[in-house]
Amino acid sequence: MTGDSQLDWWQRPDLFYQNKKLIFAGHNVNKLAYQFGTPSFVYSSARIEANLKRIRQALDDAGLAGRSSIFYAMKANRFAPLLRFLKQTGGCGIDACSPNEVKHAVSCGFQPSEISFTATSLSKNDFAMLDRYHGLFMDCDTLHAIRSWGELNPGSEIGIRINPAAGIGRACNDRLQYAGCTTTKFGIYREQFEQALELAAEFDLTVSKIHFHTGCGYLTPELDQLDHVISEGMKFVADAPDVKRVNIGGGLGVPHLPEDQALDLAQWSAVLNRHFGKRDLHIEVEPGDYIVKDAGLLLLAKTYVETKRDTLFVGVDAGFNIAPEPAYYGLPFQPVTLFLDDSPLRPTHVVGNINEALDVWYENAPLPDLDQHDYLALINAGAYSSSMASNHCMRGEFSEFLLP
Ligand SMILES: Cc1ncc(COP(=O)(O)O)c(C=O)c1O
Repeated sequence: MTGDSQLDWWQRPDLFYQNKKLIFAGHNVNKLAYQFGTPSFVYSSARIEANLKRIRQALDDAGLAGRSSIFYAMKANRFAPLLRFLKQTGGCGIDACSPNEVKHAVSCGFQPSEISFTATSLSKNDFAMLDRYHGLFMDCDTLHAIRSWGELNPGSEIGIRINPAAGIGRACNDRLQYAGCTTTKFGIYREQFEQALELAAEFDLTVSKIHFHTGCGYLTPELDQLDHVISEGMKFVADAPDVKRVNIGGGLGVPHLPEDQALDLAQWSAVLNRHFGKRDLHIEVEPGDYIVKDAGLLLLAKTYVETKRDTLFVGVDAGFNIAPEPAYYGLPFQPVTLFLDDSPLRPTHVVGNINEALDVWYENAPLPDLDQHDYLALINAGAYSSSMASNHCMRGEFSEFLLP
């Protein structure tokens, strides 16, 4: 520890400095960087399992033991060894959002019946592909989806993704909100819900689930919003007599900045208990971020250090295209050194190798003199990084490793 809580906020029992060396999941990160090369993502299986167990415990504490399920949102990270690890560990199914995600989840060991499917803008071909997976549960997010699935599967059970016109998201970041004041493509609004139920009835579909996912990255200060979102969602449940399951989506966040207050799962659990503790309903959650984000580091090699005007830059060997969240959503991944030295910390801009103005990993990161440092690690790189990577500027290469 450096002893400065502003700098040390991200340290925890499986990610910390010991004898000045950065340790992650029991590994010396400097050695990992030399061994694996860069850019590489390293994921801690132990941390993933602990995150999953924490959510399970919180659901049980909400009085939902035996009537709640977790579906890991694989869009967050689809690295096959990670999915296989989750399957072996047990305790969660999969939330998938495209036919290829379903195919991939099945190839990693999940049964179609363990997959909850929620997608948007599906084509005829998509529906035909999905129809091959017997047991897959479909949450329809448009009248179009109800009609298309109903034509293929009359008489079956479906879920309806609704839009409660109430959103949630980290620090009111509206780029992370899927519902709220702005009309979005996600889910069926209250005004059209009756029509949706009538359409379902035309195909003899039983609407047994209401689903809503209205935003990402929420922490403790946003729990009042969650309360409101659920209250609004429950108004739809009241109008759909066959509903037995409610899926409250994902969106549980992790801290990105020193001032972020981590999500207090006891308070989260209390919100769920208030709404569902005494209801005869099965509750589903489909987190991605919370399970994998803080279980991943992105290891990068330093390419140069140079002062331009009054700003100190350090360049690294990968850019925002392999982990777009900081650039797209303004969610910074704090850069940390792989060992501590005694040089004073200086504000340093960490920048990537892509010719785009938004290719900035972090502005004014407090970093020491980087002369002796070959590498940096970015924390929170476990979610929406490799899974969203592109080959922009033909710089899309990286490696991934699941650490025991
Ligand atoms: C429908 C749905 N469910 C779950 C998730 C997972 O969200 P998070 O990773 O924020 O938990 C998403 C993310 O976009 C989503 O669209």
